[in-house]
Amino acid sequence: MRGVLKETAAYNHDSMRGLVLAGGKGSRLRPFTYSGAKQLVPIANTPVLHFPVRQLVEAGITEIGIIVGDTGQQIREAMGDGPGFGARFTFIPQPEPLGIAHAVAIARPFLGEEPFILYLGDNVLSGGIVGFVERFRGSNAAAAVILRQVADPRAFGVAEMEGGRLARVVEKPSIPPSDLAVIGVYAFRGAVFDVIDRQSPSPRGELEIADSINGLLAAGRPVDVSLTGEYWIDTGKMEDMLHANQVILDSMPGQIECGARLVDSEVEGAVSIGAGAEVDGCRLVGPLVIGAGARLRGCRIGPYVAIGARCELTEVAIRNSIVMEDSIIAACPEIADSMIGRNVRVAGAPAGARLTLGDHSRVEAAE
Ligand code: DAU
Repeated sequence: MRGVLKETAAYNHDSMRGLVLAGGKGSRLRPFTYSGAKQLVPIANTPVLHFPVRQLVEAGITEIGIIVGDTGQQIREAMGDGPGFGARFTFIPQPEPLGIAHAVAIARPFLGEEPFILYLGDNVLSGGIVGFVERFRGSNAAAAVILRQVADPRAFGVAEMEGGRLARVVEKPSIPPSDLAVIGVYAFRGAVFDVIDRQSPSPRGELEIADSINGLLAAGRPVDVSLTGEYWIDTGKMEDMLHANQVILDSMPGQIECGARLVDSEVEGAVSIGAGAEVDGCRLVGPLVIGAGARLRGCRIGPYVAIGARCELTEVAIRNSIVMEDSIIAACPEIADSMIGRNVRVAGAPAGARLTLGDHSRVEAAE
């Protein structure tokens, strides 16, 4: 009986599924993606992939498919089955990253007949998607996209508008038809599968989601367009990660968890410190976050710094940087604008060092 009720709920008119893409190669984010999934690189100590999942759940979407590629095992371990997020995850392996529309096609058995939200797992959008989802639920559009004005649209799908309506999406154009990028959050109804079935790979060898949207438009199916002015970032590059880190840290109120120990230290601004962290003889200038179990001695941290769980920093000054879990840094008088991977050891980097270090790197000053 329970099973029958569940089926009915699953095909309820109002119910929707989520599809988050966490496959792909991540070549623009090397060296961090040599050893891990780009969607698990942390911003303000939170893996990027948490943001899409949390926003889907916030919009009432709890049946979530996660497309995974080579890093699938790592993503499964980091995300669990979903209860930690109030969701249920179905992991869908994509044997090769053959395009966003390809990922949608292979998720068809999971998506069934329900409308769905497609969320690219490396996108961070402030403000969530509740309004977008509600608007799509209440419409009869075949698809909906969100556009964002950007300074340089050439790295994105770009909207070509005609009289306030979307005429076409042009993928990564050298001469953009507008400054409106299509961000990585889309809504679709089942009609998109008919288009994808007839699609062929683009010149870069991928089944493009831009072509799926164009196919719907060519068939006269309504595609709804919203504009957002919210902060949005496709975390493809290191500078983007550091910028996203700043924006997310700016939105955090600061919280010192019980079990964190602060001794002879000064704190200014929004500072978050995880359970079991020890801070001794430091000056902390927020916004910043220090992960659980980290140990800091004689440091000056911030502003805009995320120190991962279990890191150890001794006599270090660091600002505008991300340090991932389990790294040990000592005797560095000034680190800035840096991304330091997991399990890294740095000793004696010169003042002004700007470090980009993949997981397990070692940096030691010459004797
Ligand atoms: O970020 C918005 C842009 O995302 C849009 O403006 C573009 O129209 C759209 O094509 C896409 O462009 P990107 O070049 O940024 O997509 P990327 O290859 O980085 O893939 C986005 C996410 O999807 C990323 O987390 C990897 C994942 N992915 C990608 C492909 C191609 C998969 O899981 N499977 C795939 O086959």
